Amino acid sequence: MNEWENRCGMDKFVIRGGNRLLGTVRVSGAKNAALPAMAAALLTDEPVILENIPDVRDIQTERKLLEAMGCEVELGYGRAHHRTTINCASLNPDPEAGYELVKTMRASTLVLGPLLARTGRARVSLPGGCAIGARPIDQHIKGLERLGAEITQEHGYIEARAERLRGNHIVFEKITVTGTEDLMMAAALAEGETVMENCAREPEVGDLAALLTKMGAHISGVGTPTLRITGVSKLFGARHRIIPDRIEAGTFIVAGALAGGELTVAGCEPAHLGALLQKLEEVGVKFRISKESVLVMSNGELRASDVSTEEFPGFATDMQAQFMALATQAEGTSIITENIFENRFMHAQELVRMGANIRIEGRRAIVRGRTPLSAAAVLASDLRASASLVLAALAADGETIIDRVYHIDRGYERIEEKLRGVGAQIRRIGEMLPRRAFAAVGS
Ligand code: EPZ
Repeated sequence: MNEWENRCGMDKFVIRGGNRLLGTVRVSGAKNAALPAMAAALLTDEPVILENIPDVRDIQTERKLLEAMGCEVELGYGRAHHRTTINCASLNPDPEAGYELVKTMRASTLVLGPLLARTGRARVSLPGGCAIGARPIDQHIKGLERLGAEITQEHGYIEARAERLRGNHIVFEKITVTGTEDLMMAAALAEGETVMENCAREPEVGDLAALLTKMGAHISGVGTPTLRITGVSKLFGARHRIIPDRIEAGTFIVAGALAGGELTVAGCEPAHLGALLQKLEEVGVKFRISKESVLVMSNGELRASDVSTEEFPGFATDMQAQFMALATQAEGTSIITENIFENRFMHAQELVRMGANIRIEGRRAIVRGRTPLSAAAVLASDLRASASLVLAALAADGETIIDRVYHIDRGYERIEEKLRGVGAQIRRIGEMLPRRAFAAVGS
């Protein structure tokens, strides 16, 4: 049993607010880059070594998923390295991504394209509903069908078959991050050229393209809406360092802005944080940006500002909840518009429980500030919502108790230890519960 399986499902955080944050907090590797990179290992029978892998629960789920399909996954965490070596030489004859795992992590569907491209067949559970929206995967399926796959759906599973995928022209009807990644991986082993338009341009997509190129793939147009992939007959093993987690970095930057103090967020890529830093400047936060770090200097005095979530390079939907926590402490009215997911305001009512003034009108949240926050017992509902509650608690008067922090463990590596290291009063309390309590959704 590893440490994650020992951790209980119903941990809580207890946070006493009011401390300024001082010092340096280091960012881990990006969860949303590590997950597709681990799936990419399915494309070859040679070892793929990934460094700077975050020690978060979703990585454990991905490990179980790959092992269930016959892959060998070595995962090592230590001071020196956060590394995984994945060897998919001995894939099961009928590899399957089962419902029990897929329901706990939507990103499991990223094995569909690589499995199909490598073995000519794939059986993957449909992910089902999610706390933040319907999140269909129709664009993944349509894209694979355009590469020549025959796809049927029965008993909650996608069954895909293709002797060999053939390159084609694909236009995404909706910009989709994992859709772009899934098709990019499939097209890398397809016969001929694939041109994909209206692609996602998130840094995580670029990081996957960098890994695939090291594995022998031919990809051009990275960072633009149009990707060109010329398929090859075989891909090889590679070693790759995962990019820093821009959402974890953004979360700490907002923590520094909200709690006040001088906080250095180290080991991040400032170029991936453009829209957030520009918005925080408008709000009145001061920064000093260097090659791999951002120094946040804030006295907690904040001005209201409107924000709309967009695909990269626009303002990230994964930073919307954290920004809402900040807006509750800004002078004036901020209007937050969520354009990516239809149900991503679950955190608002919990912030209202802490004294915030927020009204939801469809995809808009009207936040009137500044209203002092007072500690309360609150409930996390998804990964980023739980991060916003942690941030609000840092600014609240008294001791806040956040329940169901297993959501935050999915995508933040030891956040309570990192925040304690820069002066926050935060601790984890746990009850030993059976593992099944981990039935979660999202990501
Ligand atoms: C990725 O999810 C991220 N997850 C999400 O991060 C992130 O919120 C999201 O991109 C947007 O940036 C990973 O990378 C593992 P999408 P993904 O497909 O790829 C619709 C976190 O907090 N859509 O870009 O699943 C969809 O419903 C997580 O770390 C279709 O309609 O998101 C949504 O409205 C949460 N059909 C929009 O597109 C499709 O086939 C964007 O979704 C695919 C998507």
